[in-house]
Amino acid sequence: MKSKNILITGGTGSFGTAFVGYLLEHHPDIARIVVFSRDEQKHVEMARRFPPSKYPLRYMVGDIRDRERMMEACRNMDIVVHAAAMKHVPVAEENPMECAKTNILGVQNVIDAALANKVSQVIALSSDKAVAPANVYGASKLFLEKLFLNANRENATQFSVVRYANVFGSKGSVVPFFLEKMAEGYLPITHPEMTRFSISMQEGLDLVMFAIQHGKGGEVIVPKAPSYRILDVATAIAPGVEHRIVGIRPGEKLHEMMVGASEAAQTVELGCYYIVCPSEGPWDKAQYCSENNATPVAEAFEFESGRNTEWMTVETIRGLIKQITQTHG
Ligand SMILES: NC(=O)c1ccc[n+]([C@@H]2O[C@H](COP(=O)([O-])OP(=O)(O)OC[C@H]3O[C@@H](n4cnc5c(N)ncnc54)[C@H](OP(=O)(O)O)[C@@H]3O)[C@@H](O)[C@H]2O)c1
Repeated sequence: MKSKNILITGGTGSFGTAFVGYLLEHHPDIARIVVFSRDEQKHVEMARRFPPSKYPLRYMVGDIRDRERMMEACRNMDIVVHAAAMKHVPVAEENPMECAKTNILGVQNVIDAALANKVSQVIALSSDKAVAPANVYGASKLFLEKLFLNANRENATQFSVVRYANVFGSKGSVVPFFLEKMAEGYLPITHPEMTRFSISMQEGLDLVMFAIQHGKGGEVIVPKAPSYRILDVATAIAPGVEHRIVGIRPGEKLHEMMVGASEAAQTVELGCYYIVCPSEGPWDKAQYCSENNATPVAEAFEFESGRNTEWMTVETIRGLIKQITQTHG
């Protein structure tokens, strides 16, 4: 990261704020970080925590839907981390075209601006919901992945994707929801069998850093995330409190998928990640495996939250919730 200029779209969000903090602490020799997003209030609040007078930071108000502004934002950048998105499933279901404008057309603006400005590397945050999508948000993230992987055909700018999972305890996730509902004397459970993948914020940061340091362009990097059962989260938060089964909501799946069956032939295992290699272009999967000590996965491989080999226990979940509530109140 020495002397690099880095642009973070969605830099005022949960990931963006944590990533800026991480970069300032661990990479003090970075040249400049540009934080890009729309809401000026979030910029003001973030600038109180990370003042530009003290750190090599620029706060840039802008919308990724605005092509001209994206062109400006990418000027002189070495790395772009693209985190800006509409990310709430029900909101995207009700406003599909708004989701498409940000999560698809906005992404194309990021790609075009990076290419026009000869940015070396661009990393996008996708989602497990992009695999066999069941909702508008997931479909928009699948589109993002396709746009990014296709952009590698153009020229020397490298485009890589990381598939993020639910950040445990993050805003809008099941943990704050259950903590709020507990006071009403019952917990609404969509389905007793429902499972989800989980990563911590630190694992999300490590994933993006891995992509920056080891990405070749054209791949999707997937963390070997553990799963949890929704019922176990309910038990960890409020043992003995009544559960009311409310049914799966439109666009929700019983289990999530991190690597789909159709991707198995292109997937290799590398330490704590799976790498879905592109099927076209200059990639040679066998050569990648021998150079990186990676191993192809089995032909029938699928990475699904309901059939994971790693599970978070009620005790682990309880410990994490304790940490979160102690940190954030
Ligand atoms: N958190 C999770 O559990 C999770 C799971 C899977 C994938 N992801 C993905 O990870 C990424 C980061 O998520 P997060 O949790 O940090 O989300 P977040 O907290 O909601 O932050 C989103 C950021 O994007 C900005 N933004 C939204 N629309 C924009 C636009 N049109 N132009 C410019 N900036 C825009 C927001 O600021 P303004 O609204 O002020 O513009 C904010 O800074 C997203 O791409 C999300 O889809 C997250």
